[in-house]
Amino acid sequence: MTADLVNALRERLAAVRDPELGGSIVELGMVRDVEVDEAGRARIEVALTTVACPLRGTIERDVREAAFAVDGVTAVDVSLGTMDPDEKSTLLRRARRLAQAQAPTTTLAPGTPVLAITSGKGGVGKSSVAANLAAALARSGRTIGVLDADIWGFSLPRLLGVSGAIEASGGKMQPIERRVGDGRLKVLSMGSLAEEDQALLWRGLVVQRAVQQFVEDADWSDVDYLVIDTPPGTGDIAMTLGRILPQTSHLIVTTPALAAQRVAARAADFARKSNLRVVGVIENMSAFACACGEVHDLFGVGGGQSLADELRVPLLASIPLRRAVSHGGDLGEPAVLDDDDTAALYATVVDRLVSDIAPPVGAAGCSARLIHAIEQAVDEVN
Ligand SMILES: Nc1ncnc2c1ncn2[C@@H]1O[C@H](COP(=O)(O)OP(=O)(O)OP(=O)(O)O)[C@@H](O)[C@H]1O
Ligand SMILES: [Mg+2]
Repeated sequence: MTADLVNALRERLAAVRDPELGGSIVELGMVRDVEVDEAGRARIEVALTTVACPLRGTIERDVREAAFAVDGVTAVDVSLGTMDPDEKSTLLRRARRLAQAQAPTTTLAPGTPVLAITSGKGGVGKSSVAANLAAALARSGRTIGVLDADIWGFSLPRLLGVSGAIEASGGKMQPIERRVGDGRLKVLSMGSLAEEDQALLWRGLVVQRAVQQFVEDADWSDVDYLVIDTPPGTGDIAMTLGRILPQTSHLIVTTPALAAQRVAARAADFARKSNLRVVGVIENMSAFACACGEVHDLFGVGGGQSLADELRVPLLASIPLRRAVSHGGDLGEPAVLDDDDTAALYATVVDRLVSDIAPPVGAAGCSARLIHAIEQAVDEVN
């Protein structure tokens, strides 16, 4: 019985990836030990490349999450250790092999965080959150790719105020750029495909294939983050992303209403069963504060927090219903760019993402840096 559970856990942990190396933590030899007692309490020992690994929080959370997804596991204790020299050289060998095997199919730089904005339900504000989050991330000087994976109901060009046609150069589609503060947005959407007949041709393709082409045939080479807006409903797109961008982190959007929260929970459950990584909840359309001073919780209260608790991920923000948000969307000027309250809310989300949940390449650097150091040392010896 416990042997079965240990096997199930190992299998599940094999789907957890080192955020930098991209490989399975089991294949990379990072999972030292897995034990489960009769009561279903799991103890997992993970060896990191360095004690000070800035991604330790992320790895620990992913391991915990994966373990809890195994039926029969009642508690999870993750202990993090540091690799000994033998383990490090095994990791180096396997990481090299992995890098050779994983010829990149996208133009994203290795390790670039991908954030998918997901929910089971339509109309909860996914696109609004995607647009504002992308603008908030860009504002601080970053280059943010925005992929509108809602092939039929695309809305991001309008929400982000970009227009014009997508051009190809070097055999790749060039997303449409817009400067935001010190940074840039690079937007790719079905809504920007120039020729109507071209758009029709695309629509004729199965949706997954179209999204795959958006990922693979576009130039995302210089983006620090890729933000993906998804269509309502679970299913195909999430699976496609899981396959072609396995590092994708899903942010689940819900309204405070119980019904929306249940649908969002179903979407998250689906994501988890499919080994997709859910990293946080954003509650949208939270209580409306009227200029008269009264607060109206039009869509109920507490949906975001209870969903976050259920999923054991943080509630990253509760975005109230505000005219500035819908108006900003209509104008193509996301509210984060000129409404101080909305900007402050998204700034806390950006801080959490950048410092902890999904650090940009370069800010992370434990395994990759270590490998570089080892390689240099080996070169010096030779
Ligand atoms: N916090 C908010 N305050 C006011 N209006 C909002 C807020 N969030 C979203 N809206 C408005 O609600 C409507 C629906 O939002 P949005 O299109 O982002 O939802 P969606 O989840 O992407 O929908 P779909 O499932 O159709 O793609 C839009 O008109 C948007 O401007
Ligand atoms: Mg939408």
